[in-house]
Amino acid sequence: MSVPTTGPLDRFSLEGRVVLLTGASSGIGEHLARVLHSAGGRLVLAARRADRLEALAAELDGAIPVACDVSRDEDLERLVGTAQETHGHIDVLVNNAGTADPVPAEDEPSETFREVLAVNLTAAFVLTQLVGRQMLDRGSGVVVNVASVLGLVGSGQIPQAGYVASKGGLVNLTRELAAQWARRGVRVNALAPGWFRTEMTEVLFADEGGQRWIRRKTPMGRAGELHELDGALLFLASDASTYVTGQVVTVDGGWTAV
Ligand SMILES: NC(=O)c1ccc[n+]([C@@H]2O[C@H](COP(=O)([O-])OP(=O)(O)OC[C@H]3O[C@@H](n4cnc5c(N)ncnc54)[C@H](OP(=O)(O)O)[C@@H]3O)[C@@H](O)[C@H]2O)c1
Repeated sequence: MSVPTTGPLDRFSLEGRVVLLTGASSGIGEHLARVLHSAGGRLVLAARRADRLEALAAELDGAIPVACDVSRDEDLERLVGTAQETHGHIDVLVNNAGTADPVPAEDEPSETFREVLAVNLTAAFVLTQLVGRQMLDRGSGVVVNVASVLGLVGSGQIPQAGYVASKGGLVNLTRELAAQWARRGVRVNALAPGWFRTEMTEVLFADEGGQRWIRRKTPMGRAGELHELDGALLFLASDASTYVTGQVVTVDGGWTAV
């Protein structure tokens, strides 16, 4: 009897794939770095806090930390240059860096709005363009954009027009890049988390009222645990999703179902 050498689970492997991940210095990104590494990815880690990146890279064999501000085009060029000098190419790009600054819309300074868009949307476009060009040349590549449920529905009670606009833009940017590149071997999808406890959401989670609000509004009655993003991430980043592009995989305990 012949023993199959590959099975369905093998398609989730990232063995030997070069993965560039932004926002790796904390929260969801730090967690995703560990998951991508455990699946076999060779990581290039980006964020501004060099000390945090270096500590993480020291734990993840072969990972390279690149301190950079994703809102600066020259930093993104240096980031991609470093990845290419080290590995020759990039197989998977995960645009995870993000920022939020909740404030009622009537009081939100236009500068804040622009800054949030610069990090959450424009930087994702510029980096995807830089990496995408070489993926298109090779006829192969995968992009995963970390969007949010707040790219699919409004927020309201945690008022943040800039954030919601940026994530809505990222969702439709995902669809457009996917459509433009679908016949050229490059897939682009989005992962949309619901509520997870990180530095970004700490103020909300530190407050009992905030936690109650999440429990009450989430059909599953609780916030997410970081490990609950693993399956969706690996699905989108790997060959498990070779016929999937332009989609949003939402991991939100049902937040957007009601
Ligand atoms: N937590 C949630 O409930 C939730 C829900 C939906 C979506 N998300 C999304 O998940 C992603 C990660 O957020 P998080 O919750 O893990 O929050 P977090 O812990 O605050 O992480 C944000 C990450 O983005 C990086 N970053 C921010 N501005 C940057 C810049 N200008 N240049 C480079 N890196 C920058 C930060 O690193 P440095 O400060 O070191 O630069 C950090 O690594 C974000 O896109 C967020 O919108 C989070």
